[in-house]
Amino acid sequence: MAGVILDKIMKSFGDFTAVQETSLEISEGELLALLGPSGCGKTTILRMIAGFVNPTSGSVLIGNKNVTNLPVHKRKAGMVFQGYALFPHLTVSQNISFGLKILKWDKKKLEARLIEMLQWVRLEKYADHYPKTLSGGQQQRVALARAMANRPEVLLLDEPFSALDAKLRTEMRSEIRGFQKEAGITSIFVTHDQEEAMAIADRIGVMNQGQIEQIGSAQDLYLRPASKFVANFIGKCNLIAGKKTQINTFITLANQSLQFNEKLSSINATAIFFRPEQSWLTLKLAENVNSIPVTVKSYVYLGPIIEYEVVDQAGNRLLTNNLSPNNLILVEIGMSLYLNWQAENCIAIK
Ligand SMILES: Nc1ncnc2c1ncn2[C@@H]1O[C@H](COP(=O)(O)OP(=O)(O)O)[C@@H](O)[C@H]1O
Ligand SMILES: [Mg+2]
Repeated sequence: MAGVILDKIMKSFGDFTAVQETSLEISEGELLALLGPSGCGKTTILRMIAGFVNPTSGSVLIGNKNVTNLPVHKRKAGMVFQGYALFPHLTVSQNISFGLKILKWDKKKLEARLIEMLQWVRLEKYADHYPKTLSGGQQQRVALARAMANRPEVLLLDEPFSALDAKLRTEMRSEIRGFQKEAGITSIFVTHDQEEAMAIADRIGVMNQGQIEQIGSAQDLYLRPASKFVANFIGKCNLIAGKKTQINTFITLANQSLQFNEKLSSINATAIFFRPEQSWLTLKLAENVNSIPVTVKSYVYLGPIIEYEVVDQAGNRLLTNNLSPNNLILVEIGMSLYLNWQAENCIAIK
């Protein structure tokens, strides 16, 4: 097994830069998710690792070996393509052993490996079936077995669940995670779905316009986003624009001063950030916490929680799920209340 290092890789197509200079280390056995909106460069990064695309500059290392100039079949990277790209005219067995035949594996060795792969993804009974007769989840497993057949050192998965319905997606998530752990294989998983990335990955790299904006655990990104883009992309968030002053205080556009967690904050901050569930509404100004006057815009019952949307004096729309535990508030639209949150849960971000 091996880790992966991307050393200052960059890719441009003509004068358009699809991936800006990126350096990244993925440890042996780690599952890294690249998360970002469509067109941000996720697939291009995977294709550079697999060898389908040459970087404009920089290097790709697999297990400390520079593979930048090696062709696809010499890289020891297996890829599950978006939409699987199974060969429709080949059976499950033929799909799985396709690459091994091209690499001219010895017949006996190939047969043994094929059986091993069919058992691994529990498709022994479907060996002679054609892809179109299989369910989405089964096709997914064929694609996985095909990618893993040549004993790759790195597994690359490009939006592997995008063709599945919601329920199957959730099932396949834990299944793929199980297969990945069992094989102990270094994996890079591309998705635009934040919940999927959070559920499956050891670390997540959030991408925006060809760049990885932040990389960390799901919890890091959720509680300590480094930018407004990351804050917005991972879950619901509250942002209040303004600027940091010299005395560790943030001044909002409505001229309120707010306290924040200095240790976690960015230098050139332009907004205060906190999560809706970390804030609460009160009738009166609260002491020793950030507390700003707001007007109730709407509220929605979401089963276990009620989500209140309020607007502050600068016109920021903010969300909260909580009412003060100390006084009974019968919330009505148009009501004037205070929104409160603790300085330690609040960071100033770029
Ligand atoms: N072969 C190519 N030629 C020109 N532009 C490309 C090519 N491949 C990708 N791009 C562009 O690069 C950007 C990133 O693409 P891609 O990596 O596929 O994004 P993602 O997988 O995040 O949706 C897109 O704007 C896309 O149109
Ligand atoms: Mg893509």
